[in-house]
Amino acid sequence: MTEKRPKVTVTRKLPPEVEARFAALFDVVPCTNDQPMSRAELLEAAQNCDILACTLGDMMDETFLVEAAGRLKLIANFGAGVDHIDVKAAAVCGITVTNTPSVLAEDAADMAMALILAVPRRLVEGVKALQDGLFVGWSPTWMLGRSVRSKKLGIIGLGRVGQAIARRAQAFGLSIHYHNRHQINQHIENELEATYWESLDQMLANVDIVSVNCPQTPATFHLLSSRRLKLLRPEAYVVNISRGDIIDEEALADMIADGQLAGAGLDVFSREPAVNAKLMQAPNVVLLPHMASATKEARDDMGERMLINIKMFADGHKPPDRIIPEMLN
Ligand code: DGY
Repeated sequence: MTEKRPKVTVTRKLPPEVEARFAALFDVVPCTNDQPMSRAELLEAAQNCDILACTLGDMMDETFLVEAAGRLKLIANFGAGVDHIDVKAAAVCGITVTNTPSVLAEDAADMAMALILAVPRRLVEGVKALQDGLFVGWSPTWMLGRSVRSKKLGIIGLGRVGQAIARRAQAFGLSIHYHNRHQINQHIENELEATYWESLDQMLANVDIVSVNCPQTPATFHLLSSRRLKLLRPEAYVVNISRGDIIDEEALADMIADGQLAGAGLDVFSREPAVNAKLMQAPNVVLLPHMASATKEARDDMGERMLINIKMFADGHKPPDRIIPEMLN
């Protein structure tokens, strides 16, 4: 560190309590306009601080990190996903990377569960029909959705968020199926009465609702490729609160438009904030503006977690939420 109090540049507005703690603890360059920085602005900020407190959207590839390296020693990410940072390149440049896992899992799972209910039960279509004056009285055959009870939920990535979704889904009568790189602990599997599918292809062909909950890494880019999406039954639904690029979004949009899938609930997109035009027009999708962790509680806790990582690092310790490249293989 170049100073006693490390210089921390914060790239976006954070919850007020978190900003106050930052100001008390560090020599802070706060964010005043809450606009994403351009690459040039971000690079200048990174080159002139010890610690960059960033978040998703702050793209840091290998070229960026090589140019940024020097004074910068820690990239502390506000958020769990670090797909916008080349963690391997950061390690080579001697820059530590941290994230804020766990604290958002329960709130994110609530949102995934909300989508798992909203799409088959046509929640948003119902609201729109009512607002458009189409509700002319109860009818035995109007606005029929599909029951979620007794359906099979296939979770791709049964980590913290996936497990929190599984617990909620169990309470709604869904059976839990999952695909992971490795089978999870027997005790948790028993508790969730979860069926492990080593083959993602086989799981997809057997479930009614797919929930995407793995991190985005080079290995999971378009994991739900056009070929894999076609393994799903036409009655199946897809829910994604992780990252847009884990699904081939174009293929998903085409299949929904052609009636090859029953619908989707998406909180994340390939080219955020842009949203695929075909998805925007589809009646049987629920689209949200990347808000699965958007609660005051989760965002305060994420800020606290980020502060802990920075403080530990500044005090010469290993921060608890270090991301090491091997974790992303
Ligand atoms: C994350 O933590 O990566 C989410 O996408 C933002 O809440």
